[in-house]
Amino acid sequence: MKFLVLNGPNLNMLGIREPDIYGRFTYRDLEVFIQQVCDDLHIEVEIYQSNYEGALVEKIQKAYFEKIDGIVINPAAYTHTSVAILDALKAVSIPAVEIHISKVEEREDFRQISYPGKACFATVAGKGIDGYKEAIILLKDKLQED
Ligand code: DQA
Repeated sequence: MKFLVLNGPNLNMLGIREPDIYGRFTYRDLEVFIQQVCDDLHIEVEIYQSNYEGALVEKIQKAYFEKIDGIVINPAAYTHTSVAILDALKAVSIPAVEIHISKVEEREDFRQISYPGKACFATVAGKGIDGYKEAIILLKDKLQED
């Protein structure tokens, strides 16, 4: 089983950006955590972060040709704006889970819409870094039941 974990803009600033909201762990800590979770579950994983919408779209398209089994995506601010990321997820129709570190449902009105979320079978939010583990397990369980 091979997963792609995608992280959108400003997530490379974890540890520096708004620690009251996103915590004190760094992006490197997040990468190590995801790798460890996947190793424990015997899942091969590629972890990718970009501040560019088009780069995220291209990575999703590439996942199709690389026969990626599942995608975990934190589109970050593109959650609330990106029809392009939604369309890319729909184009490849690879099972996907949306993840947010913060509790988006309790934040500003403009964060209440998720476009990429419409192409995901589940959303995990407000559980910090542990949410990535939950998302990976949800994806694995889903693929095993299909
Ligand atoms: C986020 C929530 C988004 O609203 C925000 O723009 C982010 C991070 C989260 O992980 O909580 O950059 O996706």
